Amino acid sequence: MDSKFWDNVYESKSENGVSWYQEMPKHSLDTILSLNLPSTAKIIDVGGGRSKLSECLYEKSFNDITVLDISEAALLKLKETFNEKLPDNQISIITSNIVEAKFSEQFDLWHDRAVFHFLTNPEDQKKYVELLLNSLKPNGYFLISTFSKKGPNKCSGLEICQYDKDDLVSKFSKLELIEFGTEDHHTPFGTVQNFTNCLFKKSN
Ligand SMILES: C[S@@+](CC[C@H](N)C(=O)[O-])C[C@H]1O[C@@H](n2cnc3c(N)ncnc32)[C@H](O)[C@@H]1O
Repeated sequence: MDSKFWDNVYESKSENGVSWYQEMPKHSLDTILSLNLPSTAKIIDVGGGRSKLSECLYEKSFNDITVLDISEAALLKLKETFNEKLPDNQISIITSNIVEAKFSEQFDLWHDRAVFHFLTNPEDQKKYVELLLNSLKPNGYFLISTFSKKGPNKCSGLEICQYDKDDLVSKFSKLELIEFGTEDHHTPFGTVQNFTNCLFKKSN
C-alpha cells in the first residue's frame, strides 16, 4: 500500500470531495455512545483520515483518542481542523500503514470504517487481525464498517474486498459478535454505498 496514493487523494480533494465523507458519523458515534464507556476510554480510529468522529467524541467528553492513518496529509488536515475547533484538547495522531503499526498500549475501542476492506492480500489481513487481537484490552470493542456484497467493488479506484456479516465473523473469529447491521451511505455525489457494520467484543 502506497502512502503517496492517499496523500495525493487528501491533497487534491476537499473535505467533502471524497465519497466516504460524512457530515456526521452517526452510526459510529451512536454505537460508541451506547457502550457507556468512561470518558477516559482509550479509543483508536484506524484509517480515520479526516473523519469527524474524533471531534464528535471529544465533544461528548472522551479525552483519549488516537487517529492512525497511512496518509500524513490527511492527519495534518485533521489536526488543523481539530485544533481550530477544540483548542483546549489534544488528539494523538500516528502516521503508519496499519499492517506495520506497533502500539505501546492497548485500547478499549478500535474503530475502522472503510479501511480493512482495502487489505486484499490475505497476509495483510492476518497481520491486521493479529495486531487487533493484541491491541484490544480484555472486554475491548471492535467496531468495523466495510462495503457489503451489495456495495461497490472499488473505492478511490482501488480494489476492495466486500464482506457480509458471516465473512466478518469468520475473519474475526476470536471475537464475539455483539451487533450487526447494514447501512446505506449517501455519498456527496448522490450515489449510495451499502456497508456492513459489525460490533465485536474481546472476552476476558
Ligand atoms: C475510505 S477512507 C475512510 C476514512 C475514514 N475512516 C472515514 O470513514 O471517513 C480510507 C482511509 O484509510 C486510509 N488507509 C488506507 N489504507 C490504509 C492502511 N493500510 N493503513 C492505514 N490507513 C490506511 C486512507 O488514507 C483513508 O484515510
